[in-house]
Amino acid sequence: MSPILEIADLKALAKRRVPKLFFDYADSGAYSESTYRANETDFGRIKLRQRVMVDMTNRSLESTMIGEKVAMPVALAPTGMTGMQHADGEMLAARAAEEFGVPFTLSTMSICSIEDVASVTTKPFWFQLYMMRDRAFIASLIDRAKAANCSALVLTADLQILGQRHKDLRNALSAPPKLTPKHLYQMATRPLWCWQMLQTPRRTFGNIHGHVKNVSDLSSLGAWTAEQFDPQLSWQDVAWVRQRWGGKLIIKGILDVEDARMAAATGADAIIVSNHGGRQLDSALSSIAMLPRIVEAVGDQVEIHMDGGIRSGSDVLKAVALGAKGTYIGRPFLYGLGARGKAGVTQALEIIAKEMDITMALCGKRKITDVDRGIIAETPFG
Ligand SMILES: Cc1cc2nc3c(=O)[nH]c(=O)nc-3n(C[C@H](O)[C@H](O)[C@H](O)COP(=O)(O)O)c2cc1C
Repeated sequence: MSPILEIADLKALAKRRVPKLFFDYADSGAYSESTYRANETDFGRIKLRQRVMVDMTNRSLESTMIGEKVAMPVALAPTGMTGMQHADGEMLAARAAEEFGVPFTLSTMSICSIEDVASVTTKPFWFQLYMMRDRAFIASLIDRAKAANCSALVLTADLQILGQRHKDLRNALSAPPKLTPKHLYQMATRPLWCWQMLQTPRRTFGNIHGHVKNVSDLSSLGAWTAEQFDPQLSWQDVAWVRQRWGGKLIIKGILDVEDARMAAATGADAIIVSNHGGRQLDSALSSIAMLPRIVEAVGDQVEIHMDGGIRSGSDVLKAVALGAKGTYIGRPFLYGLGARGKAGVTQALEIIAKEMDITMALCGKRKITDVDRGIIAETPFG
């Protein structure tokens, strides 16, 4: 086996280990996938300044996100159906993140439930909330996140309706997954994945199944979920969530300066500049392109985080230089998980940390907290 040196190596291995419909679910964007691609390629358009004769000993990637200490400013992004990349995926990823010292964010649409993840972790994790029409259910989810001692609620704003991903339709992927003969064939070619999946009872939406009235089997769960995303989501709802939750609140999915101003005005602790990994509005600008404009507009009012397209430590460094206090990775950790389970998530984090450390040093900085725009040689983005 060739060595695993970069995130692309984990992606290649995950492709061999995860059934096609679930690998494609991660490796896809909306419609033409132009925003999905731009998220990655726009990082390459930012150039760094090489500095020499600077003392590069005693380096540190430690920082804080919403006041919490982090080993590096990189959290695991909330991703739905992570338990389909690898059996018990959310529990494994949460443990890897905890051991590494970075935040783990559990999606509302996870396979392992809030309680499952709480049972295998010792430090608080973050919970991502989708607003659904069933407000009583949302209230109960918020209460469950509180009971599980989650230390931040990440409210996702950019999924009022679902973007379309052609690959998922071609693969006939449904949420939660229902198996067709074609799927069974795809799974049969991934025996290790199947064997691991057979060892776990967790194969549906753990936060929802058993918690909603009249949703007893997979088809009723699928129907309920499909009609639950709320197209009328408004800033008033954010105030309601904030009041009900009472703890640290992060608003995810901001890609516009006007929206950033509205989000900052809610009193949220942080906002995440994000286009959902290019999975919602195709032809939206990349997150890294929007970051400097949003930082300029509201960076003095609210902590700014970003996600989308980070595939290396150098990408994280560029985001921090352009004003992000924290970043998130989605696919990089999913590829690690699909490739090698918990060890693969750890490996993804290690790869990014090492790249960040070396790149930071070659830019003449010893601490990530000292990194600013000064390390940028050229950027087309603000
Ligand atoms: C497979 C997959 C599932 C996702 N599910 C969710 C989700 O349930 N909730 C959410 O807020 N964002 C979700 N996202 C978006 C991520 O939180 C994040 O914004 C995105 O993955 C960042 O881009 P990256 O994958 O290029 O790092 C998902 C992304 C992927 C790839």
